[in-house]
Amino acid sequence: MNQVVLIYSGGLDTSVCIPMMTEDYGFDHIVTVTVDVGQPEEDITMAAEKAARFGTEHYTVDAKDEFARDYCFPAVRANAMYQGGYPVSTSIARPLIALKAVEVAQKVGAKAFAHGCTGKGNDQLRIEFIVRTLLPDARIVAPMREKNMTRTEEIEYARVKNVPIGQSAEKIWSIDENLWGRSIEGGRLEEPDFAPPEEIFRWTAGPQEAPNTPETVVVRFENGNPVAINGKSMDPLTLIREAHNLAGKNGVGRIDVMEDRMLGLKVRENYECPAAILLYTAHAALEALVFTKDERDFKRVVDAKWADLAYAGLWIDPLKHDLDAFIDKTQERVTGEVILRLFKGGISVIGRRSPFALYNEDLASFDSKTWDQRDGEALCKAYGMQARMAAQLNIG
Ligand code: ARG
Repeated sequence: MNQVVLIYSGGLDTSVCIPMMTEDYGFDHIVTVTVDVGQPEEDITMAAEKAARFGTEHYTVDAKDEFARDYCFPAVRANAMYQGGYPVSTSIARPLIALKAVEVAQKVGAKAFAHGCTGKGNDQLRIEFIVRTLLPDARIVAPMREKNMTRTEEIEYARVKNVPIGQSAEKIWSIDENLWGRSIEGGRLEEPDFAPPEEIFRWTAGPQEAPNTPETVVVRFENGNPVAINGKSMDPLTLIREAHNLAGKNGVGRIDVMEDRMLGLKVRENYECPAAILLYTAHAALEALVFTKDERDFKRVVDAKWADLAYAGLWIDPLKHDLDAFIDKTQERVTGEVILRLFKGGISVIGRRSPFALYNEDLASFDSKTWDQRDGEALCKAYGMQARMAAQLNIG
């Protein structure tokens, strides 16, 4: 049997791949795998229904808990923002999706994979990297990339081949969703100066609909992991959903950025990442309380590199593991609580506390004599000595 494992979301790209598997690539058995990383329930069932209509051997893999615990939470510990603004929400789901597809392939004994990624994006690199790392001899086909089809051509192909799709010439947004974020691309959103219309947002309230009174939220962390919201302990998946709801209803989590893709393309991206923004904001505030200045400065560099690797899909890369070890060590003291205020799209930290706080009231207070101010005089005399010497030379 010549079988192929198709990584299947049920969307346009992967659905048009199905007839191609037999007609153009000569496979005689199609195994479709949909990995549930928190996309809408309807998408998961719709994918299964479409698969049934095509008669594929279909698997739905529920990876939500694993995604929350082993992918989203490490992103929190790393404050992972690609280029300072994108919480790598689509990026970190790809390795897990590929991993689950490999598991299914091993179970059914398939040696070929297909995915619906185009040749312009990052996902082809992320997915193929994982598949090749785990199964170096796998055959990988990418019909969307090989056929170089435009979106309009795909829709036409789907019509001719009777492939059920949701897209039409009017419904033009390309959407990718998981627990950690929602990415909206396509149509006029590609133009960097086109203001996103309100209709693209599903998870976050606009400033006008958001409540007129601020909401206070307390997040508790243990070893860098969020463990409770407003005093209620939750498992990672439940906690992410709670953060999602609280931030979303207050309009927090909208992101509009220019993004440099791995192959160099500069693209405009819109995201809704309510849970990520809420948890990152709280986590960073706690690190600021418990870290030394050197730790804060150095971890910023490590975090940025971690985010680059996560964006690049290099989830099982030696440097990524090295950085994980560093980050985990720093998180031993990231325990405590952060109080946030959410209001009409804005989020601010209004308090933080930790048994590991390096803040010392007695030393910092204006009303204390513990630090003898007279010691400041000698400090000032030594301070900037080399810069002062250099300045003297310039004058001369
Ligand atoms: N640019 C984002 C990334 O590479 C998201 C891409 C997927 N989005 C989509 N609507 N298909 O991580």
